[in-house]
Amino acid sequence: MNDPLTPYGNKPMVTPIVNAVNYEYRDFEVLRKITDGEIDGYTYHRDDNPTVRAVEKKIAAMEGSEDCVVCTTGMAACTMVYLTYLKTGDNIIFFHDIYGANYKVSLILERMGIDITWLDSDENLEKRVKPNTTMIFMESPTNPLCKTIDIAAARRAADKAGARLVVDNTFATPYHQLPLKLGAHIVIHSATKALGGHNDLMAGAIAVSKEDYEKLWFTRQAIGTTLDAYSASLLERGLKTFELRAEKMAANAQTIAEYLGTHPGISRLFYPGLKTDAGHAIASKQMHDGFGGMMAFDVGKTQEDAKKFISKLKVIYHAVSLGSTESLICIPHLTTMLYLPPERRAIFGVRENTVRLSIGIEPAEQILEDLKQALNTVK
Ligand SMILES: Cc1ncc(COP(=O)(O)O)c(C=O)c1O
Repeated sequence: MNDPLTPYGNKPMVTPIVNAVNYEYRDFEVLRKITDGEIDGYTYHRDDNPTVRAVEKKIAAMEGSEDCVVCTTGMAACTMVYLTYLKTGDNIIFFHDIYGANYKVSLILERMGIDITWLDSDENLEKRVKPNTTMIFMESPTNPLCKTIDIAAARRAADKAGARLVVDNTFATPYHQLPLKLGAHIVIHSATKALGGHNDLMAGAIAVSKEDYEKLWFTRQAIGTTLDAYSASLLERGLKTFELRAEKMAANAQTIAEYLGTHPGISRLFYPGLKTDAGHAIASKQMHDGFGGMMAFDVGKTQEDAKKFISKLKVIYHAVSLGSTESLICIPHLTTMLYLPPERRAIFGVRENTVRLSIGIEPAEQILEDLKQALNTVK
């Protein structure tokens, strides 16, 4: 029978959303071939899905990886990587300045007998690598302080112990940074952010070699973190405009950071595209075509100043998440870092009045005017 979608071979312009949980087997021989991996085929959604598979191929092409595993959220992607490669007695090195939920997961890993090292972004990584270090987990730029960490140097440190280097590339995006080319073994994304780009889906992605694909695929189908087909389709649509959005966000962000850098109401500003930024030299080596849409800064002197400033914004939304078409702002102490013990927040270097700004694709002047009028209300 002809495929009803392509009766004359004319393919649909978008990958169809296949909502099937299960697939009828033509015969036992086909079932055997699929389950033995001899032929591509689908059996059960938790194992695999054609809409999800299409988007995996696209993200792999963007990151320059052999394959990609897409899953339900960015945190599912991180956790799948920990579960796949870490065992009791292993050491994992985390940089302090990473997305806050990883700290929660680290508590679970600790319970499982995994030895955890926390590191400052400017500490000598190589000196902290131990014989039992099997994974180094980092972001660059980091969340929320947009610090730059040298990926090639991290790989050299990982090699000392034969450890895997895992880079969360959510802030940089593949438009500006390709960690696999710089030495990373595994690249993670919260595809909820710039890859999806429209605040309407949650997904995670892990760009990997063929060998690692098999391992991570096994974990995903075992624990059931497979993305639903509808979200995969939204993600595929987001990817079509990803480069345009990333280009515009970075251009906007550069203009805005340069303005904020001269504003007396801003005491600290973190954006790797600024020549004055501590990470600028390394970011210029490992990033290209701009420095992304994320920045962080301190407003006034107190949290009340930061709250007052945010409440005056009219274009920029007060909301968590990032990398979307709309500009978004939040106070990490009240959102992504809320549950961290106070001493850990202090180590991060994130202050009560630090705000994280994710620049969208609005006209730059609109965002600038909004920031200017809101900053006027802060002494
Ligand atoms: C850098 C980074 N990694 C991972 C995550 C987790 O992603 P998700 O919210 O999709 O689980 C986030 C979320 O903000 C993030 O900013």
